[in-house]
Amino acid sequence: KRLILIGPPGSGKGTQSPIIKDEYCLCHLATGDMLRAAVAAKTPLGIKAKEAMEKGELVSDDLVVGIIDEAIKKPSCQKGFILDGFPRTEVQAQKQGVKVDKVLNFAIDDGILEERITGRWMHPSSGRTYHTKFAPPKVHGIDDVTGEPLIQRKDDTAAVLKSRLEAFHRQTEPVIDYYTKKGIVANLHAEKSPKEVTAEVQKALSS
Ligand code: AP5
Ligand code: ZN
Repeated sequence: KRLILIGPPGSGKGTQSPIIKDEYCLCHLATGDMLRAAVAAKTPLGIKAKEAMEKGELVSDDLVVGIIDEAIKKPSCQKGFILDGFPRTEVQAQKQGVKVDKVLNFAIDDGILEERITGRWMHPSSGRTYHTKFAPPKVHGIDDVTGEPLIQRKDDTAAVLKSRLEAFHRQTEPVIDYYTKKGIVANLHAEKSPKEVTAEVQKALSS
């Protein structure tokens, strides 16, 4: 399967991705995770992306299209892939050359997202996420699997969330319309519990 996951910040894309990935043996390509790794490693890509990411704005189309083109060639992606957080502009959707089967739209009201974003903790090297209220780790601040410390993302503040949401409504919502016209969008109720959302994903992928 070749899937795109679209939704605003905190809508659950990164939470559902590992489940879908394991069930269908797909590779998980998250542009946000790749960019954060590049910023941490201070690569040329990371240096170019850092400022926009900290402000909650989108990184330039050419940079992200380039990293997806490169990553999608990996042997592990030949059976299928999950694009998490890409494409996010109409230009990215048009430039992205590979045909996709399904777009999962994580539809949710903005009002729920601040609590999700400000309560999120993540394990940087695996991308595993937790939430202080909705999905707490066994020990506060510690990853269940590795015992390593969890961190909060720099852009997970109420103020930066505002610009991320603006970018979503202005630049990414048109991408949903673009794929709706192609008839491949499945709309999910992303405000439901993680388990209920997983069930909706499975239903969408079985039809
Ligand atoms: P990116 O990393 O993609 O961030 P995002 O789109 O803002 O999405 P998030 O990762 O915040 O949300 P999510 O949907 O994955 O939520 P999660 O499942 O973790 O992008 C970051 C930045 O990189 C961008 O701002 C931009 O600068 C740049 N960038 C990336 N891609 C780009 C592109 N294509 N073009 C240009 N620039 C790009 O869930 C959130 C929290 O809620 C967690 O704590 C989780 O435990 C909890 N939770 C999840 N589901 C539920 C549920 N059902 N009920 C209760 N709690 C839940
Ligand atoms: Zn994510």
